[in-house]
Amino acid sequence: MDENRSIMIGSDHAAFELKEKIKTYLSGKGYQVEDVGAKGTASVNYTEYGKKVSRSVSQGEVPRGILLCGTGLGMSMVANRFPNVRAALCCDIFSARMSRLHNDSNILVLGGRVIGDVLAFEVVQAWLDTEFEGGRHLDRIKSIEA
Ligand code: RB5
Repeated sequence: MDENRSIMIGSDHAAFELKEKIKTYLSGKGYQVEDVGAKGTASVNYTEYGKKVSRSVSQGEVPRGILLCGTGLGMSMVANRFPNVRAALCCDIFSARMSRLHNDSNILVLGGRVIGDVLAFEVVQAWLDTEFEGGRHLDRIKSIEA
């Protein structure tokens, strides 16, 4: 498996449908997507799925994750409690690019009740296509963990 094309994804019920669409989009682009759930639109607790993806990214089992809930806020709060996780809630392409260039974000968070499908695909693509700039930003992201 090409580790760079491996992505773990999780959502709650509120963003289940967008998660499914993003999975289809990513598979079509040749990414291997591991889905930790939720499995449908029945009400669940976003923390369960947020912790699964965040733990895997935190421990280096997968390089990148995508998390979705209704607003993206709860998933962001969960994910950013994990060491080495830099989760970025992005509703626009500029933020998605900058979260990679300057923050080396390793989890992209989306709000399924906020963002439209097509913009979500473009945000995901911009996030995946953008490399970390390093340089002065490396000290800054190290300082987050210090
Ligand atoms: C679920 O109703 C909603 O609270 C959740 O998806 C998320 O937006 C929480 O931050």
